[in-house]
Amino acid sequence: MSKFYLTTPLYYVNASPHIGHAYTNIAADTLARFKRLKKDEVFFLTGTDEHGEKVREAAQAKGKSPKEFADEVVANFQKLWKMLDISYDFFIRTTDELHKKVVKKVIEILWDKGDIYKSTYKGFYCIPCESFFSETQVKETEGRCPECKRPLEEIKEDNYFFKLSKYQEWLKSYLKDNPGAVKPSIRYNEVVGFLEANSLNDLCISRPKHRVSWGIEFPGDSNYVVYVWFDALLNYISGVGFYYQEENFRKWWPADCHFIGKDILRQHAIFWPIILHALDLSPPNTVFAHGWWLVEQEKMSKSKGNIVNPFDCIEEFGSDALRYFLLREIPFGLDGNFSREKFIKRINSDLANDLGNLVFRVLNMSEKYFGGKVSSLKREPPLEFKPLLDDLSKSYVPFMDSLEFSSALERVWSFINLMNKFIEDKKPWIMWRERRIEELKYFLFSLLEGIRIVTVYVSPFLPKAGADILSQLGQSSLKENLTLDEVCWKTEGFITQKGSPLFPRIDESIL
Ligand code: MSP
Repeated sequence: MSKFYLTTPLYYVNASPHIGHAYTNIAADTLARFKRLKKDEVFFLTGTDEHGEKVREAAQAKGKSPKEFADEVVANFQKLWKMLDISYDFFIRTTDELHKKVVKKVIEILWDKGDIYKSTYKGFYCIPCESFFSETQVKETEGRCPECKRPLEEIKEDNYFFKLSKYQEWLKSYLKDNPGAVKPSIRYNEVVGFLEANSLNDLCISRPKHRVSWGIEFPGDSNYVVYVWFDALLNYISGVGFYYQEENFRKWWPADCHFIGKDILRQHAIFWPIILHALDLSPPNTVFAHGWWLVEQEKMSKSKGNIVNPFDCIEEFGSDALRYFLLREIPFGLDGNFSREKFIKRINSDLANDLGNLVFRVLNMSEKYFGGKVSSLKREPPLEFKPLLDDLSKSYVPFMDSLEFSSALERVWSFINLMNKFIEDKKPWIMWRERRIEELKYFLFSLLEGIRIVTVYVSPFLPKAGADILSQLGQSSLKENLTLDEVCWKTEGFITQKGSPLFPRIDESIL
């Protein structure tokens, strides 16, 4: 049994979760469920990033302490993850005591090693981004923040620095030897190109308390707190017990996959492997940076009022529909454009018409013709099913392993549609009329078995529908510990129990 340690970014708690946050956790959950189907031992970590001025300000605006405020937002994130069936193993908060201890310990280790030093910083500071920029960076943006484009403050102050520059050559050769370390390849090339063209500055990892008061106190100097990114990145090791639970840590580290959005690539593909290397730890096996969901080609933002609220989507269309749409609509890695129209069309065509209808028709026939009891003397798959069943058994796992979720779904849907066509072609109502009972039994048995296999394949994407179909097929015992061993022709007989339609059709006139 191999282990699989998977993480999501830690979400900032200064705002409520939106569809972009839901996207990463849905993708991570789908991968975690798939790895469990493969019988890997999975550890899936998600959580929240709670320090920094933005959180303190947001809390102050509501008349709350930062921790009280964070507790409320965290509850909201956890509620969303529950509604979306996100099967994480641990929810880490950067305000957790153990995490804070690990951050301090790491700084002590790096300090003792000579990789942290104190120095005077002269340059430009962006208050909202809590980031420093050099004169050259600022020249290109005419004195504005390269990230948020707001005016910068010119400052001169003492701070603590981590020797990022010392490890630039190591990182370059590491990436050269490990082209799978950053994915997809467009992001790998972006990081390699950046390292070729630029000399890394050392990373300022402290903030004076007069500037940022809500953070982890810098060990050995109470005038400072730890820079929020340095604090947050360390969650990936503190979440599995670095330093304090050595055995657990050794079991899970290195992480197999960090899922992130493309905007936080530099922190994860440059800062993070270097911090780990300085700690004598291996870098993560893969950092996968996915694309962004836009609305009418624009970034979602409060000021534009175009934020898509995942709670509303779930209330209106159900959590499985949202999970399916986000992973089916665009290849994982590229940007996508969210539109209500596309969302509804996908639900109607793929979920209501193709999958939902197939299950409904077959279960209906099973009850109508045989009172729900279907077995057959002949038990091998019909010839018509064989090519696509073989294709699925060969292509599904590689597609999922390489995070090509939409391609995996496309293949599964080819089989679903083949089964729908099979019903049209074989005309079971004529078999019934002509009393060709054994033939009809074999026909229905084959469809039930085909649906059972499809359910295994779709279960990482559609956990609610997957469980519902298994109940309707009288196969509830499979729900616990479902594995890919189930995707072969093996059932002896079915005792079905028809449920309500899985995905009711949405009236497109509401568009
Ligand atoms: N707190 C940092 C991450 C620290 S990880 C150690 C952060 N938080 S965030 O809340 O701003 O963003 C979290 C994730 O959401 C990022 O991966 C970001 O890419 C993702 N998304 C935010 N908006 C998004 C879309 N519109 N679409 C897809 N993902 C987007 O950054």
